[in-house]
Amino acid sequence: GTKKLWGGRFTGKTDPLMEKFNESLPVDKRMWAEDIQGSQAYAKALAKAGILTQEEAKSIVEGLDTVAAEWRAGEFVIKAGDEDIHTANERRLTELIGAAGGKLHTGRSRNDQVATDTRLWLYNELQVIRKALRELIRVACDRAEAEADVLMPGFTHLQNAQPVRWGHWLMAHCASWQRDDMRLGDLLPRVATLPLGSGALAGNPFLVDRQFIAEELGFIGGVCPNSMDAVSDRDFVAETVFFCALHLVHLSRWAEDLIIYSSGAFGFVQCSDAYATGSSLMPQKKNPDALELIRGKAGKMQGNLMGVMAVLKGTPTTYNKDFQECWDLMFDAVDSLHDSTRIATGVLSTIIIKPEAMMKGLSSEMLATDLAEYLVRKNVPFRETHHISGAAVKMAEDRGCALSDLTPADLRTIHPLFDDDVAAVWDFARSADARDTEGGASKRSLLEQVAKMRKYLELS
Ligand code: ARG
Repeated sequence: GTKKLWGGRFTGKTDPLMEKFNESLPVDKRMWAEDIQGSQAYAKALAKAGILTQEEAKSIVEGLDTVAAEWRAGEFVIKAGDEDIHTANERRLTELIGAAGGKLHTGRSRNDQVATDTRLWLYNELQVIRKALRELIRVACDRAEAEADVLMPGFTHLQNAQPVRWGHWLMAHCASWQRDDMRLGDLLPRVATLPLGSGALAGNPFLVDRQFIAEELGFIGGVCPNSMDAVSDRDFVAETVFFCALHLVHLSRWAEDLIIYSSGAFGFVQCSDAYATGSSLMPQKKNPDALELIRGKAGKMQGNLMGVMAVLKGTPTTYNKDFQECWDLMFDAVDSLHDSTRIATGVLSTIIIKPEAMMKGLSSEMLATDLAEYLVRKNVPFRETHHISGAAVKMAEDRGCALSDLTPADLRTIHPLFDDDVAAVWDFARSADARDTEGGASKRSLLEQVAKMRKYLELS
């Protein structure tokens, strides 16, 4: 068999299937760069602590640069016995520089190493994701502002409710994306907290300077406060996958709206060719596949989250090999989210809107509330005006006409306080603009929402 890093006390051979079952290299080789960075920082810390000479540390750092160059060039040769990225890199380093390579792992365990590598990898990725998320918000703000005059029906229960602005709908989704951005900002320092220097579980006897390592690696959250917790804690994985799952839920609700709006019956929007596909049978089809995939990935992500939680549940304190099962769920979560966010940005920046179809979707019945409010302004209690307006809706329905076809004289047969100026109620823009409270559907409020969102992006 192959020589194992941990083979000293072993005499028997590993079952070949066990070898495969145990190995994580196919998954965790993705963190080769972070594993090397972590080792370089650790070598420097060992030199600072007087465990390595400056020459030894230098030869380790340079040897690791060579290993990195091999990975980058696609020339790193994986050998039998390379159990995971940590053993593979150390094996190669020792081949390159000899005995000094064998000193790198002094006081270190793969337990504090793997947690460090993953956190480093995740911290970098989450910053890339944050940029993508913010780009999506930016695109939504730009459209909301540029198309602030476009009116559309707002729905509750997917039933016609009240007129809103297309931009108001956009900013509704932006508000959920902003919370995602805040959650991500809050999460970053907890991801970027350093486990290294915790050893297998009890700490480091060579007194490596953990603050120094944290600074070397850019861990903004400082160092993990307890060595047993440091090798035990996978909250950063669970929180990240939860963040991915919730952001995908938000994206999928946004996607679902657009899938409905792009259907033949609505026709409010049309996906650009770049994000749609056709049918192999029906020549006329243009399907919103990008949006459907986002919706599907949101479903799958619930499974990733449950997977991580279930792996962690009931594991005894400190490190257990169960944890290894989290990595592919985490990588998949990060990949799916990054792709989905960028696709969403592409869809949103190219989607064609059909303001006339949105106008057609508006009917004067959606102003029945406004009709009631007209009488409220004449001091009739709302509970009564609700009934009065309901009676008008019934009258229009009985006559088979639109609510707005009722004349002021018709309305006066229901209540005497309807004056001729009631005709001004039949104006969708006026209805939206009447809702001029902070966060309301008025144009002024909409532009204010956009301005505040931009300020948020600027300041945080
Ligand atoms: N490949 C392992 C993992 O991902 C690295 C840590 C191994 N530690 C150990 N004590 N066997 O979890």
